[in-house]
Amino acid sequence: CGIVGYIGTNNARDIIIHGLERLEYRGYDSAGLAILNKDNLFDIYKDVGRVSVLSKSTNKILSNIGIGHTRWATHGKVTTLNAHPHKSPSGRFMIVHNGVIENFSQLKEQYLKGHTFLSETDTEVIAHLIEGFATYMEVENAILTTLKLLHGSYALLILDTQNPDKLYAAKDKPPLLVGKNTQGFTISSDVLALAGYATEYHVIEDKTFVVTTKNGIKFYNYDHEELDIKFKPLNIDVAAAEKGNYDHFMLKEINEQPGVIRNIISKYFNNYEINLNPSLIKSINNSSRIYILAAGTSMHAGLVGKRLLEQLTNKPVEVHIASEFAYYRPILDTNPFFILISQSGETADLRACLTYLRSNKYKTLTITNVITSTLAREADYALEIYAGPEIAVASTKAYIAQISVLAILAYELSAKDFDLKLELSKVAQAIENFLADTENLQALVSKYFKKEHAFYIGRGIDYATALEAALKLKEISYIHTEGFAAGELKHGTIALIEDGTPVIALISDETINLNTRSNLHEVKSRGAIPIIVTLESLKQKGDDIILDDVHPLLTPLVMVVPTQLISYYAALNLGFDIDKPRNLAKSVTVE
Ligand code: G6P
Repeated sequence: CGIVGYIGTNNARDIIIHGLERLEYRGYDSAGLAILNKDNLFDIYKDVGRVSVLSKSTNKILSNIGIGHTRWATHGKVTTLNAHPHKSPSGRFMIVHNGVIENFSQLKEQYLKGHTFLSETDTEVIAHLIEGFATYMEVENAILTTLKLLHGSYALLILDTQNPDKLYAAKDKPPLLVGKNTQGFTISSDVLALAGYATEYHVIEDKTFVVTTKNGIKFYNYDHEELDIKFKPLNIDVAAAEKGNYDHFMLKEINEQPGVIRNIISKYFNNYEINLNPSLIKSINNSSRIYILAAGTSMHAGLVGKRLLEQLTNKPVEVHIASEFAYYRPILDTNPFFILISQSGETADLRACLTYLRSNKYKTLTITNVITSTLAREADYALEIYAGPEIAVASTKAYIAQISVLAILAYELSAKDFDLKLELSKVAQAIENFLADTENLQALVSKYFKKEHAFYIGRGIDYATALEAALKLKEISYIHTEGFAAGELKHGTIALIEDGTPVIALISDETINLNTRSNLHEVKSRGAIPIIVTLESLKQKGDDIILDDVHPLLTPLVMVVPTQLISYYAALNLGFDIDKPRNLAKSVTVE
């Protein structure tokens, strides 16, 4: 979910709606907005569906203070009643919330017996608690008393009809930032929502309570002691968050990939020297084993990272799914080093891992696209991937960028017996060459990708790419796809192959070229449509998609690109919402 609040001299509705549009990647099943009207009462608008629906229903509103929310349902179905904002029983308080209150049923039981709730959400409990305490204590204390009772995660914005010139905020775990300019304050889940409305910003720390008026802002800890906070200048390229000439953000982001790799080269290489913190390098060198933790696409980048690090440093590397590692940990090596990979830097499953790692004083590195994010700030070290804002929910350029940065890190730890800078530029060029003509790929997709099922197969590092390729196709085209180790398919899953099932073989390595091809023959003779993605030096007559050769360790960077476009065109042909696929959110801040 994403939240935005505004107080100042401008129209709150416009800033909030625009902000919510920028936050829509965080969830888009419903959206809502509350403003304080000139009688100091709330006008509330909630709609199931996209922010664009809310934008239409609220286009005449004028007010200088308001809060808004875009939802990714956790507690309660997608209905207008469950959409935020939520109000207190008498309507005095109005709240938007990102996160999950884990003890909400206990709180109901203990403090709110007999209360009637309008929604199924955990958020409404917060509004009821604040109003209850505010009947016998001053409002700021009522909010602080409530905050101290909450277990779980929250970023909250609160309005009070009895203090109509104040916007309250608090947070523990999910991100929350304040932006300011001479006209007022905007508070939001992501810095993107501040672009255009703030010249300076501040990332709010956990367990901070914020009181904002149109002229000033105060930060407190939960003991109500004022904190000394410094704002930083906000420099954000608004154009980077717009679609430009492309029909979809996903297509724009796929096409940005060569530029992203070149940008990473320019950020990390100073001529032929690599800019990396020597203490980070020392810490990894001193470790006995590296553990990579991540979720979704970032986990797949981790699988490629494992190979890069193992081949270049000879150090063993394990990759773990964050949500599993958080509660089911393997036996750790004597001196482990942890790499957390996260595009957003906010994934709650990873935060749960980091909490454990920090409490055990293990050394951690976050590799992320958002250097101001929680995971970046809380780890010992952070490396930025410089992909620029990634808006499409299905991750493409961030994946490429994560692998490129992992390659640079692995290289810096190695004997450096090849020229990585040159090899990465060749990768950028190879991707650019491929993207220049994709007609053949589009024709293939139109012909074969209409079925219920599809498979990607590969061996070795191509297996890692197959997993990512399958995830991408599932995410946006809803075609059920599996990524499979090519040699393993015959041990059971081959039973699913039917007439017309597309099976795409990824072949980027000489040593497995013939084996994977023979696995493809096995499925072809059972009716599958075989499709081959390979490299120039390995191609055979009749192969479908051919990419330029690149350094053997960097092949995943080029091999994945056609698979991204296969997903894109499959979803386009099937008429689905490419940038905002059903049921997903880009940044999942609940476990
Ligand atoms: C969500 C997204 C995935 C993403 C995963 C990890 O589930 O839908 O596309 O790969 O989170 O996100 P992160 O920001 O940690 O890389």
